[in-house]
Amino acid sequence: MKIGIDQMAFATTDKYIDLRELARVRGDEPDKYTIGIGQDQQAVVPPTQDIVTLGAAAADKLLTPDIRERISTVIVATESGIDNSKASAIYVKHLLGLSDFVRTVELKEACYSATAGLQFARGLVALNPQELVLVIAADIARYGLATPGEVTQGAGAVAMLVSQNPHILALEPTTVSLTKDIMDFWRPLYATEARVDGKYSTNVYIDFFKQTLARYQQLTGRRLADFAAVLFHLPFTKMGKKALEAVLQERQDEVAQRLRAALTASQVYSRRVGNLYTGSLYLGLMSYLQNGSAQAGDRLALFSYGSGAEGEFYTGILQPGFATHLSAVPTDLAQRHQVTIAEYEQDFQQQLGMNPADVSFDVTKDPAKFVLAGQKDHQRIYQCR
Ligand code: CAA
Repeated sequence: MKIGIDQMAFATTDKYIDLRELARVRGDEPDKYTIGIGQDQQAVVPPTQDIVTLGAAAADKLLTPDIRERISTVIVATESGIDNSKASAIYVKHLLGLSDFVRTVELKEACYSATAGLQFARGLVALNPQELVLVIAADIARYGLATPGEVTQGAGAVAMLVSQNPHILALEPTTVSLTKDIMDFWRPLYATEARVDGKYSTNVYIDFFKQTLARYQQLTGRRLADFAAVLFHLPFTKMGKKALEAVLQERQDEVAQRLRAALTASQVYSRRVGNLYTGSLYLGLMSYLQNGSAQAGDRLALFSYGSGAEGEFYTGILQPGFATHLSAVPTDLAQRHQVTIAEYEQDFQQQLGMNPADVSFDVTKDPAKFVLAGQKDHQRIYQCR
């Protein structure tokens, strides 16, 4: 039985900044941001958006009356949780109006957990082929104003339906996971911004990619030539290039050129949104499918990486008609408007974060269907409009 990703949809905020402008304000060379890091724009998060509203917005695009009825499990993968106890999946389930007879859970392991969610969903469908599992990867990448990580911030969500006989990607059985206790990036309970050893994290990422790829090749006998594309977690687009070049090295043959072209196609959306943490790999997949030369029957390789650290290398086979089962990301990006660096900084400071006080946000400026209206008696107040 084929099991995998049946449908995918993306959502982000309605605002962005231009990173050349951010570079000028921070006193950096704009080329460092656009070429050295590989980012052009970055999603700006108003206080009325969080991972619940973004996740609901992405998932909402997938819901027909039939799908709404059939969803059996909702998995929200995030490292930007809004509660240390209650799962964000419950809030999302409520906003989407799903049946009460549904299983809901939140998963965490930095930028890796959506991949765990997909593999768990695959297991659920294997046990009960009638299951339709909604996996949502939603995050707000936040490092702090004027920090080295600032240029790699971003926000958004990717929602995926996992089922038997999927329309997009049938997951193959061999996957390689690698876990080591490493302090390259983490966020203590008392912090709203991540702590990161940036250079170290990029080295660990490359090392995990090389190790998981080598083991996958050992287990399957497959070579790079067997992949139409290798898709990467993209904390910033240059990271994918660093990892791919670490294995291609000086190669200029047809396979190397194909993988480089596929990487470029997978980077198009990340360049304009920034890091989605656990959703980044899957936005990269959508970007490749909408901007690359993907064909049904192709074998795609995916490398998932979460600091702390965990990596997974796995593959899937692209299914006929895949293109009609993805939401139109260019439409989302075209509907955004650019804001100044001052406006971005104001939004950054206004996030609810760890503030325990009652607060009420002005939701009239946010066109999103799902908004965070504020907090009362330590409870977040969401609206579906
Ligand atoms: N023109 C072109 N390129 C320029 C330039 C210019 N004028 N000036 C500098 N550059 C280049 C540099 O040569 C460098 O390129 P290489 O990496 O290829 O050598 C690049 O721009 C970045 O410059 P720096 O090394 O000086 O950058 P930095 O010290 O400001 O930090 C960073 C970069 C470490 C990525 C930092 O942004 C950071 O800490 N980001 C967050 C951590 C992160 O994303 N880690 C990735 C792996 S961990 C992970 O994947 C999980 C996750 O999502 C967080």
